[in-house]
Amino acid sequence: MTAKGANKVATLTDPTGKTIQLPIIDGSIGPSVIDVRKLYSDTGHFTYDPGYTSTGSCESKITYIDGDQGILLHRGYAIEELADKGDFLEVAYLILNGELPNKEQKAGFVKNVTYHTMVHEQMTQFWRGFRRDAHPMAVMCGVVGAMAAFYHDSTNISDPRQRKIASYRLIAKMPTIAAMAYKYSVGQPFMYPQNKLNYAENFLYMMFGIPCEEYKMSPVLAKAMDRIFILHADHEQNASTSTVRLAGSSGANPFACIAAGIASLWGPAHGGANEAVLEMLGEIGSKDKVGDAVKRAKDKDSSFRLMGFGHRVYKNFDPRAKIMQKTCHEVLGELGIKDPLLDVAMELEKVALQDDYFVQRKLYPNVDFYSGIILKAMGIPTSMFTAIFALARTVGWVAQWREMIEDPQQKIGRPRQLYTGQTQRPYVALEKRG
Ligand code: CMC
Repeated sequence: MTAKGANKVATLTDPTGKTIQLPIIDGSIGPSVIDVRKLYSDTGHFTYDPGYTSTGSCESKITYIDGDQGILLHRGYAIEELADKGDFLEVAYLILNGELPNKEQKAGFVKNVTYHTMVHEQMTQFWRGFRRDAHPMAVMCGVVGAMAAFYHDSTNISDPRQRKIASYRLIAKMPTIAAMAYKYSVGQPFMYPQNKLNYAENFLYMMFGIPCEEYKMSPVLAKAMDRIFILHADHEQNASTSTVRLAGSSGANPFACIAAGIASLWGPAHGGANEAVLEMLGEIGSKDKVGDAVKRAKDKDSSFRLMGFGHRVYKNFDPRAKIMQKTCHEVLGELGIKDPLLDVAMELEKVALQDDYFVQRKLYPNVDFYSGIILKAMGIPTSMFTAIFALARTVGWVAQWREMIEDPQQKIGRPRQLYTGQTQRPYVALEKRG
């Protein structure tokens, strides 16, 4: 089960004819890795892998993905089962601790998370420094990073208790912070969390509740929200998680590391895709324009891509997208929603899934394609989509950060490069420069 005790080797011969043996390490499932840690000291060569398409950056026990088979496991449990039978905080406990909680453990975990849902009252003043039209992800980057300025008693990464408290604080406060970003943008008062509600309900309440009226919770929407959170909870070493690990590898405090993860998630090739999907659907405008959009996405002279299609790892249906697709149809049916953009989405899904270009390149709709549609149907503004992804992914980021800190082999992440710039040359005085 562990990566230690390897006895297989790969043999590499460099251009001088020098042969070295590189240990092959097996995981519990999935591809083995060639251990190149001694490559530089033994041969003077680095490996070269921009985009890390063949590079394992760490050992992890949290999440397993088989992109060809469309399999996603958290701590050995299939995402389909977790999304169907679990709830978000149970899955969070599993991801963080390695096992599903028993009743007592679950109650304790829920209590610890709900205990931390409010943000320091002084933090509310922080918001007033932002423009009303600030993007929620900009606010999240700033406010989450600023948590280190408010919670000094949980920034010592060498103390396991402080690491745990920081984890609870981040998981608990993220929905509050995200909802506050929304409330600020629409000029409504912040809503304090209601700890009698579950995690997803509480988020909806803080988003859509107002002090002068009773908020009517829709169980269908709360369930769909919870499922969206589960499906985004962790996804092994993606760009934002790797960013969190790299930031954390220098010993930075957890709030700074998660803020770095939020920044990385924001991009449209990653978490920003759910927002980009809706923008793209808006640009396409109507069902009869779908064909043109697909044509443009295939045109190598155009930079246009179908947002919400394709994945670096999944070359089969993204298992999260399958669950999301089902939830999407359930939510639309339940709410009886008629929205021309949703018709465009359904048409795009149909056309792309039958198109040779997409079939041959194994470009299937990913989780962000459907999550954007569901969130829109639920009345969540587009600019909040990535913030919702961030709040759910916080569990994964925190678990991966903790796993890294607790790994005795942990050292600062420091990739090398292939240098193709100028070689050394003498300084030229200003008056002699052409
Ligand atoms: N539309 C049109 N063509 C595409 C698309 C797309 N969405 N995605 C990939 N391709 C083509 C690409 O042009 C290339 O074609 P060719 O082999 O002819 O040059 C081929 O498919 C392989 O693409 P790639 O860029 O090498 O693949 P990648 O693994 O580097 O990129 C990706 C993966 C997710 C960044 C990319 O598919 C993409 O940009 N998708 C749209 C954005 C998106 O939905 N991102 C969310 C990903 S899931 C959630 C998350 O990670 O946060």
